Amino acid sequence: MLISGRGSNMQAIVRTAQAEQWPARIAAVISNRADAEGLAFASAQGIPTAVVANKDYPSRADFDAALQIAIDRFAPDLVVLAGFMRILTAPFVAHYAGRILNIHPSLLPSFPGLGTHRQALTAGVRIHGATVHFVTADLDHGPIVTQAAVPVLADDTEQTLAARVLREEHVIYPRAVRWFIEDKLSVADGRVQVAAEAG
Ligand code: GRF
Repeated sequence: MLISGRGSNMQAIVRTAQAEQWPARIAAVISNRADAEGLAFASAQGIPTAVVANKDYPSRADFDAALQIAIDRFAPDLVVLAGFMRILTAPFVAHYAGRILNIHPSLLPSFPGLGTHRQALTAGVRIHGATVHFVTADLDHGPIVTQAAVPVLADDTEQTLAARVLREEHVIYPRAVRWFIEDKLSVADGRVQVAAEAG
C-alpha cells in the first residue's frame, strides 16, 4: 500500500483484513514522505515499511522507477494507493495495469484533482462522496469499482464534509480490495463488473 500521510484508509484496510481474516497479507506500506504518520501504525502492526522520498529524485520518471523497484521487491498482487499524493507516470501505471487501485474523495467523474470538498461546496452539489477506481494514466479517471454518496448539508464546511466522506471511504475501500482479492472484479470497455456483488 502506498501512503503519503495520515494513512487512515490504509489503517481501515489493515483492520478489516484482520477482522475478516482475509486470505491475504499486506506485503508492505511504502510512503513518499519519511514523516507520514501512517508508517508508525504499519510498523506497529508488523507490516514491512519503506520510504521512497520523491524529493530525492530529479524527475517524476526517476522517482517512479525507484518506487517501482521498491514495490516489486515485495512482489504484491495488488498496489493500493491510500492517500498517495503523487501523480504517477504512464510507464509506472502500465506496469501495474489492472492491479492498482486508488480512492478519490469525490463522486468521479465530478471533481478530479485536489480540493474536492471545496469544489463540491463551490458547485453547490447536494450529493458528494468517494470513488474507488482502477488507476490509469488518465488522472482520477480509471474504471470505477465502487462509490459511496453522502449528503451535503447547508452548514457544511470543507472539514465537516471531508469527515463525512472519509467515514464512507473507510467502508468502501476495504470492501473493494476484498473484491479484488476474491477475484470478483473484471473490466470490460472501461467498466468494472463485480461478480456476486451481494457478498
Ligand atoms: C483521503 O480522503 C483520500 O481519498 C485522499 O486523501 C485522503 C487520504 O487520507 N486521496 P488518509 O491518508 O487515508 O487518511
